[in-house]
Amino acid sequence: MLEGVESVTARPGKDKKVRNFYPGLFADELGSTPERPGVVRVFSAQMEFLGVGYYDPRSRVALRIYRFEDGPLDRQFFLRRFARARKKRARLGEFHRLVHAEADGLPGLVVDRFGGVLVVQVRNRAMEALRESWLPALVEAATPDGIYERSDMDSRRQEGLPERVGVLYGEVPPVLEVHEDGLVFQIPIALAQKTGYYLDQRENRRLLEQMVEPGQRVLDVYSYVGAFALRAARKGAYALAVDKDLEALGVLDRTASRLGLRVDIRQGDALAVLGSLTQSKTPPFQHVLLDPPTLVKKPDELPRVKRLLVDLLRPALRLLDVEGWLWLSSCAYYLGVNELLEVTRRAAADEGRRLRVHAIHYNPPDHPWSLHVPESLYLKTVLFQDDSL
Ligand SMILES: C[S@@+](CC[C@H](N)C(=O)[O-])C[C@H]1O[C@@H](n2cnc3c(N)ncnc32)[C@H](O)[C@@H]1O
Repeated sequence: MLEGVESVTARPGKDKKVRNFYPGLFADELGSTPERPGVVRVFSAQMEFLGVGYYDPRSRVALRIYRFEDGPLDRQFFLRRFARARKKRARLGEFHRLVHAEADGLPGLVVDRFGGVLVVQVRNRAMEALRESWLPALVEAATPDGIYERSDMDSRRQEGLPERVGVLYGEVPPVLEVHEDGLVFQIPIALAQKTGYYLDQRENRRLLEQMVEPGQRVLDVYSYVGAFALRAARKGAYALAVDKDLEALGVLDRTASRLGLRVDIRQGDALAVLGSLTQSKTPPFQHVLLDPPTLVKKPDELPRVKRLLVDLLRPALRLLDVEGWLWLSSCAYYLGVNELLEVTRRAAADEGRRLRVHAIHYNPPDHPWSLHVPESLYLKTVLFQDDSL
């Protein structure tokens, strides 16, 4: 049993959330609370034991729960969590998400593995406070050459935490080398987006490469380092990549040269580039991919973002060939499959296009989707095909 720690109680009825393995409670869901932030044992209003967590009223979610049985949040505990996370990814090679926060029982911690280098994000106050316990456990469990921290995301600012970016442990080369099915990207770690590379689209990229045929045309909008476009080019297709991030496009350009592949690049705002492509009478594309950033972070932003998506989809459909494929992704929790279907239906109506839904894909297994944490389903990709009669 865990001795000498404070307790919190859940308000009547709120214990159900915790009993159903939801790993957090808001301040207004708590009854009695300690005076200071720290590790706490969690009880129902009837004083039944529920779990062990970290309480900090300055956090958006005042109580984060890390275990549902009694015991300390020490190095041994984190070692077991990391060992479990590793086991789940045992067949995924050396480039994957190793820890996906709540869905791996570690709210606030994200770890991506790029060969010998781990890139971590610490997203909440609890994980920040528990650093001395989880960091040595991560080193012991994953035996990396080096660990780099990229804790500079919005959620961290919302927690009132300062940015932390830099080497946390061992040797980290300034250029991250990312391997994916024979593609090798060299990404300057300090200038990269998020943890450096979007590992979560790997399976969709594999599928695109299977589907594309030599001589086809592929439009990769929101391309980042062009991992979709390069696979298309490798299959002998013409690929055009669009992104606003010059650094990422530089990586794309250098990767293409090294591999002897050709990818055309347009730097700029996606909406503006799509508009100019429709006006320039460019030939139609057999695959059009739209993989925008997290456009919606709060539900009240949805109406505006849906209008933006309709505006993007209209030119995208105009550029799509008869029987062509449209890949529409959302990495925003609030922008779900229903919203993606709705905006595409609206744009298709405006353009007089008939589409069928071929498939819907979700985050891959190294970005687990926990039944108990609805927010852990974040990535949706709807694959449509033009279905002209
Ligand atoms: C989710 S990432 C795309 C990941 C990419 N498809 C891949 O497979 O690696 C979103 C990308 O959108 C780009 N972006 C954000 N806003 C943009 C805009 N208004 N116009 C063009 N690109 C934008 C970002 O630079 C980022 O590379």
